[in-house]
Amino acid sequence: MDMFVIRGGTPLTGTAVVSGSKNAALPIMAAALASSGKTTLKDVPDLVDVRTLCQLLTALGMRVERDAADNLQLEVTDTRPCVADYDLVRTMRASVCVLGPLLARRGRACISLPGGCNIGDRPIDLHLKGLAALGAEIRVERGYVIAEASELRGTRIYLGGPCGSTVTGTCNVMVAAALARGTTTIEAAACEPEVVDLGNYLNQMGAEISGLGTPFLEINGVEELTGTTHRIVPDRIEAATLMIAAAITSGNLRLENVERPHLTAVIEKLSEIGARVQPLGNRSLQVSTDGELRAADCIALPYPGIPTDMQAQLMSLLTCAPGMSVVTDKVFPDRFMHAAELARMGARIRREGPSAILSGVKRLSGAAVMASDLRASAALVLAGLAAEGETAVRRIYHLDRGYERLEAKLCRLGANIRRVADTPDNFPRTLRLDPAAAEANVSPGPKWLNQEGGLRQSRRSA
Ligand code: UD1
Repeated sequence: MDMFVIRGGTPLTGTAVVSGSKNAALPIMAAALASSGKTTLKDVPDLVDVRTLCQLLTALGMRVERDAADNLQLEVTDTRPCVADYDLVRTMRASVCVLGPLLARRGRACISLPGGCNIGDRPIDLHLKGLAALGAEIRVERGYVIAEASELRGTRIYLGGPCGSTVTGTCNVMVAAALARGTTTIEAAACEPEVVDLGNYLNQMGAEISGLGTPFLEINGVEELTGTTHRIVPDRIEAATLMIAAAITSGNLRLENVERPHLTAVIEKLSEIGARVQPLGNRSLQVSTDGELRAADCIALPYPGIPTDMQAQLMSLLTCAPGMSVVTDKVFPDRFMHAAELARMGARIRREGPSAILSGVKRLSGAAVMASDLRASAALVLAGLAAEGETAVRRIYHLDRGYERLEAKLCRLGANIRRVADTPDNFPRTLRLDPAAAEANVSPGPKWLNQEGGLRQSRRSA
């Protein structure tokens, strides 16, 4: 297992090119299962989740290749397999995106239920409700969802749930409806740009979907989806993560390959916190800071709100903004594993239901921290970039799932990050606290975490 050793304190400067969106690429790659031609996808990021899905698609009878120009070529060569096994699905929940395409094209899908997840409950009841409404017979047996249909029929489907709509659920139902007989209307569809990208890809293949980007989709079923070439939208989460890297290090970054309208909520919030975000031409922007950061309240909501996938990174930024901030997640209300790790770095955070209340500190201090999920890992890397001294971020395999060589991008901007094997020898010396020396050293430190997760002086000097 690898870890990052980060020496914080360098303002990031320079230019970074944002990769294609992971969350758009995954459902689009899965949807290629429903087509009967060759698909060429451009700008598919080269990261672990994409490689995992390539493995699953290969097992499902697809030829998958990255060509010399870094495009992903996909073509169904065998339409018989229909089982997505637990070993792959448990490592990546987005594997569930093969459910709709398999059912639509092969009449049967057998997908392992993914099980628990570090960001909270992630049921797939809405996916199943939508597919059942289209006429699929669905049962759960031995940990697998088995969905069967000799024919899917268009109908009216409401996809709203207790926390809004469902992104991958909308993707599954949209692909199945694209090949159903008759017209389907989906109400409370997810409006995320990644869903729109999938809809555009399906339309390029001959589907008839209107209303993309709104909660009301109308889908006229067609007989067949043919192959096409499609460029994946830029990753708005990677772009926003890099924007926060600029703000948290008082840096000055130019980002290229950004779709600014997809970032409106994040740009507004960062401006409120004290970042200066300026458009540069069509698909670039410049981010710098405007003096001291300011506290702000953030609520993660379905699109066009602040994405839940940015909640952890915004929290890292706000730990260093003087004053009180409240960060609330309405999409995944339990997604706060990073808060305790940030507290290890000196952040003052108190959890209150679906919210975290932050009291900004002057400076975070480097520590050994544990990544718990993909976006939490990014938040800890950002905190490490801003912290005094060295930070060891462990279990970064979570980060590798969803960011394409993030540390290489950050190092090109001046960050000091080393990827090393997580062994005792590689553990930073500066983070090895000798208890005897710590007890003897009464003033001015070392510092100890108090019960609220804030910093106070060592027990003797307090
Ligand atoms: C997708 C994204 C993920 C992002 C999330 C929310 C991909 C591959 N992943 O995940 O990065 O954090 O959207 O923007 O695109 N829910 C139900 N029943 C369901 C499905 C979901 O109640 O059948 C609930 C979930 O528990 C959650 C909310 O709906 O509270 C949104 O989940 P959903 O949009 O489905 O997330 P994913 O599609 O899994």
